[in-house]
Amino acid sequence: MKTGIKIALSLALLSSLSFGGEQFAMSDSDRAMYAEMLENNPADIMVAHGEELLSDMGGDAGLAKYLGVSESELPKYIAGFPRYIEKFDMVVGLGQALQAMMHDTGKKVLKLDSSDMNDMLAYTKSIANDEPINIDVNANQHMKDAYALGQITFDTKRGGRGLSCLSCHSPDVIGTILRTQPLPDLGVNNSGGTWPAYRMTKSNLTTLQGRMQGCMKNALLAVIPLGSPDIVALEVYVTDKAKGKAIAIPGLKR
Ligand code: HEC
Repeated sequence: MKTGIKIALSLALLSSLSFGGEQFAMSDSDRAMYAEMLENNPADIMVAHGEELLSDMGGDAGLAKYLGVSESELPKYIAGFPRYIEKFDMVVGLGQALQAMMHDTGKKVLKLDSSDMNDMLAYTKSIANDEPINIDVNANQHMKDAYALGQITFDTKRGGRGLSCLSCHSPDVIGTILRTQPLPDLGVNNSGGTWPAYRMTKSNLTTLQGRMQGCMKNALLAVIPLGSPDIVALEVYVTDKAKGKAIAIPGLKR
């Protein structure tokens, strides 16, 4: 009962939050536009650009070689990110693996928030399209630790409003409406398999880490930097919720 009261209270708090001006759920015309964009995702061209950028580093074959897998194993391997990689001795997202490859092949290392990096990350993840997400959070102690850190980061209340990710993405509140936006279940929504996605409200390609930062900004939580152990851990935790769901990049989101 106590938690019931808590949830009621935090929902009252939530209803006073504005979501960056995105106050409206999809209208009929938005829905029509969405249907059209599903046919022809504006991010396809960005993914194609990412493919060109990767081809400067040897393309799929170069990436497979760098990651130490065969080209035919590459899609399955990519479907397991974020993952522990021995030569880096840490759990990394796909973007960081690309940065390491840029570094080791003598290319300019792109920042994780650059649009070229987003394009490249989207293309690289799309190599795993139709593969089920196969992240293994029990693969080794590093992954277990990352999962545990991700869960703590997800559940811990922070910031001026005392909100956590869980405040809005817990089974108790999923489906309730915040300022006309339904609160999504990150597993059912396949967040792990549908980002990078084209965001219609922002007209850009956004990565999963970038999307999570968006929620931090909206909910007044201190923004965790891209590529930091904490945000990679969050990505591990959120991706695991969609384990087994098929990867479909680029996603298309409101
Ligand atoms: C104040 C409520 C609130 C908090 C706190 C919050 N979110 Fe969200 N989140 C939302 C809403 C609402 C949406 C969907 C908005 C939309 O439809 O565009 C969303 C969307 C998302 C999505 C994309 C879902 C999809 O479509 O794939 C992810 C991932 C996400 N949140 C992760 C997080 C994480 C991680 C945190 C904690 C750092 C967090 N959220 C905190 C309300 C919240």
